[in-house]
Amino acid sequence: MDPAVTYSSYLHVDQLLELQRPRSDGPEHDELLFIVIHQVYELWFKEILHEIDRVKLLLEAGDAHRAQHTLKRILTILKVLVAQLDILETMTPLEFLSFRERLEAASGFQSDQFRQLEFALGRKSRPAIARFPPESRAGKALEQRFHESTLWDAFLAYLAREKYAVPPPLLTRDVTQEIEPSAEMQQILIQVYRNDAKNSEICERLVDLDEGVQEWRYRHVKMVERTIGVKSGTGGSSGAAYLRTTIGSPLFPDLWEIRSHL
Ligand code: HEM
Repeated sequence: MDPAVTYSSYLHVDQLLELQRPRSDGPEHDELLFIVIHQVYELWFKEILHEIDRVKLLLEAGDAHRAQHTLKRILTILKVLVAQLDILETMTPLEFLSFRERLEAASGFQSDQFRQLEFALGRKSRPAIARFPPESRAGKALEQRFHESTLWDAFLAYLAREKYAVPPPLLTRDVTQEIEPSAEMQQILIQVYRNDAKNSEICERLVDLDEGVQEWRYRHVKMVERTIGVKSGTGGSSGAAYLRTTIGSPLFPDLWEIRSHL
C-alpha cells in the first residue's frame, strides 16, 4: 500500500530544500537570498505560462468571463514579481559583490522561461533559441513556443469570432514575426472600447499585462543600476545600458495607439 500523502511528500519538500546550493565560500550570507529569489521567479514564470496557455484556450472557446478572470490572476502574480525586487534591493552592492564572481557567466538573461514568456506575448527571437541545445528542455520548449500563436493572435481570432471584421491577413499572419501596429485593427478596437463593455474589459486587462511587464523591466534595470552601476553584466551584455534598450516598447502597440483617439 502506498504511504499516506503528507504535506511534505505531496510538495516534495525534501527535494525542494536540497535545491539551494550556494557556490561562495562560507557561504556568503546573501547568496541564499539571491538563489531563493531567482528560483521563486522561475516557479512563477512556470505558473504564468500555464495561465497564458489557459487564457488562449478560453478565448478559443469564447469564454470571455473566465479569460478575463485568468488574466486577472496573471496580473496579480506579475505584481508579486515586481514587489519581489524590493527584497533583493535590501542587498547592498558590497553584499552582492561578495559572491558575484561565483556566478561566472550565469545571468537572468539565460532564463528560458522568461524568453518563453516573451514569445507567448509576441516577442519572438531566433537567437534566443539558439542559446540552448536543441534537445534540452529549454531548447524544445522555446522551439515549440516560437511556432505557437501568441496571446495577441488568440485575442484577434476571438474578436473575429465575436463578429468584428478583423483583417484576414492578421488572422493568418506568420506568428514567428513581431506584432506590427495595424491602423485597421485600431479602428476596430476603438469600436470595441466605445460599444462593447465585455470585450473592452479584456483589452484593459491586456494593457495591464503589457504595462506590468514594462514595469518589471523598469524596476529590474533600476535595481541593476543601484547594485552594479554601469558595470557589464555576468551574461556578457553592457548591463544597465542594454537593459534600458528593452524598456518602453509595448507588446500590444495597437492598444496603446488608440488611447489618443478615444
Ligand atoms: C542583484 C540582482 C540582479 C542583478 C545585478 C541583475 C543584473 C542583470 C544584468 C546586468 C542583465 C543584463 C544581461 C547580462 O549581461 O547579464 C540582466 C538581465 C536579466 N535579468 Fe537580472 N539581475 C538581477 C536580478 C534578477 C532577478 C531576481 C531576475 C528574475 C528572474 C532577473 C532576471 C533577468 C532577466 C529575465 C534578464 C534578461 C532581460 C532581457 O534580456 O530583456 N534578474 N540582469
